Amino acid sequence: MTRLRLAIVGAGPAGIYAADILLKAERRFDVSIDLFEQLPAPYGLVRYGVAPDHPRIKGIITALREVLDRGDIRIFGNVRFGEDITLEDLKQHYHAVIFATGAVRDTDLRIPGIDAEGSYGAADFVSWFDGHPDVPRTWPLTAESVAVIGNGNVALDISRMLAKHAEDLLPTEIPDNVYEGLKASPVTDVHVFGRRGPAQVKFTPLELRELGELRDVDMVVYDEDFDYDEASKDAIASNKQVMVIDRVLQSWRKRPSVNNAGGEASRRLHLHFWAKPVEVKTDEQGRVSAFVYERTRPDGEGGVVGTGELREVAVQAIYRAVGYFGSPLPGVPFDKRHGVIPNHEGQVLKKDSNERVPGVYATGWIKRGPVGLIGHTKSDAMETVRHLINDQGSWWQPTDPSEEAVPALLEARGVRWTDLDGWHRLDEHEVALGAPHGRARIKVVPRDEMIAVSRGE
Ligand SMILES: Cc1cc2nc3c(=O)[nH]c(=O)nc-3n(C[C@H](O)[C@H](O)[C@H](O)COP(=O)(O)OP(=O)(O)OC[C@H]3O[C@@H](n4cnc5c(N)ncnc54)[C@H](O)[C@@H]3O)c2cc1C
Ligand SMILES: NC(=O)c1ccc[n+]([C@@H]2O[C@H](COP(=O)([O-])OP(=O)(O)OC[C@H]3O[C@@H](n4cnc5c(N)ncnc54)[C@H](OP(=O)(O)O)[C@@H]3O)[C@@H](O)[C@H]2O)c1
Repeated sequence: MTRLRLAIVGAGPAGIYAADILLKAERRFDVSIDLFEQLPAPYGLVRYGVAPDHPRIKGIITALREVLDRGDIRIFGNVRFGEDITLEDLKQHYHAVIFATGAVRDTDLRIPGIDAEGSYGAADFVSWFDGHPDVPRTWPLTAESVAVIGNGNVALDISRMLAKHAEDLLPTEIPDNVYEGLKASPVTDVHVFGRRGPAQVKFTPLELRELGELRDVDMVVYDEDFDYDEASKDAIASNKQVMVIDRVLQSWRKRPSVNNAGGEASRRLHLHFWAKPVEVKTDEQGRVSAFVYERTRPDGEGGVVGTGELREVAVQAIYRAVGYFGSPLPGVPFDKRHGVIPNHEGQVLKKDSNERVPGVYATGWIKRGPVGLIGHTKSDAMETVRHLINDQGSWWQPTDPSEEAVPALLEARGVRWTDLDGWHRLDEHEVALGAPHGRARIKVVPRDEMIAVSRGE
């Protein structure tokens, strides 16, 4: 039987689903898979992106864990591709590699003042509240008024986390430092800005509706934003999702506290539409003092044009939630414009060419960009795995495909890698930390501590 030794880089949903699909579907090859992950824990953005107050989605980890627990995939955690292991190493020990490294940083927003103190990327804030080991433990939550730029689900996630009272997050898995940080926040007003209208938002109805259920938070929407053009009316009439979004927003227009910045609740979450970011203003110390935007109007085709009218809102912090962006990997082609590995249906292509790079594949967000839900990475993986199997003739010819070679290599390089047993140890440790407080788990945040617990040191 032909043997396929496969390396997968990235243990997020895309990497784990690719391994699962290959192992379940393939009977012609004797498949053995090694999964490399830069963090000491698997699951990618499901652990370090999905908001802590969304336990149902976090629960997808249970299904991903079942895949790993089957015992036919080896994990090498705390191993960073490009530093601890390279493409040349992989070519010596595997027949092919699938990159599933996702997108971990914020896309740029090029407006004056965006680098000021008090201006943050959503990805960094998400990493902080989800206990990512590589971001600082403290977050400067000192602003009373905050602007969030963007109308996607990430914008709603971070607006909700900023507006929600910390006590209401206590039942979740948030680490103690996050609870303490949020508890001390003096925030009263969170302003969310979308450059298009209510019928062109990227967020979804469930996530929008959830904002209206936050304790002691008033939703504020503005009548002037609902003067719909024909394209918006058509979108509302023809798309159920847009229809529900409109219905939810209309219900907030009618609520007594709407348009009343001095409403009943101690915190307010304002949704502003037709607002294109123009500038971040700063005070004498260079700290964020205001957000300037240009009022837009519909162009009749779902887009917008500027009206020339500039408006300003006084805020002390700004979060840009305008999308994530992939990072280049050493030795692997990268499309700088779109932040992805150039590929045809997962087969990696040489830069600016249609020529394939033999043995190299991509799946998930690094394959098609940072859009889509966890479930979409499954269909992605199916397509990539199908090509991998059909391309048998162009796989690499490894000089040492033995299973012992890679652990020996990592050992020789002094890499403190973690394995599946290590993940079980860390998982049990986190669950035990949460138990006395009636919480599902409390995450361990420092990388060294994660490694030490995993390795039983
Ligand atoms: C804030 C946020 C909230 C979200 N909430 C939801 C939600 O509620 N529901 C939903 O369905 N979808 C949600 N999504 C979308 C979902 O997270 C993505 O669709 C999915 O995680 C993409 O999977 P992926 O495996 O491609 O990438 P990722 O999940 O990012 O996994 C990539 C993995 O690769 C690893 N990696 C990167 N570089 C290297 C390297 N050099 N060496 C080794 N390993 C590396 C990373 O550490 C990571 O573990 C959310 C996304 C974000 C940003
Ligand atoms: N609960 C959940 O299910 C959940 C939670 C979080 C994330 N996710 C998913 O993860 C994916 C990524 O989410 P995301 O919110 O990062 O991305 P997204 O859905 O693509 O939204 C990005 C938002 O940023 C805006 N934007 C982009 N460039 C801008 C600019 N220069 N100025 C002003 N606004 C700008 C976009 O506006 P335009 O539309 O005008 O371009 C859009 O509103 C999505 O598929 C999302 O559904 C899901």
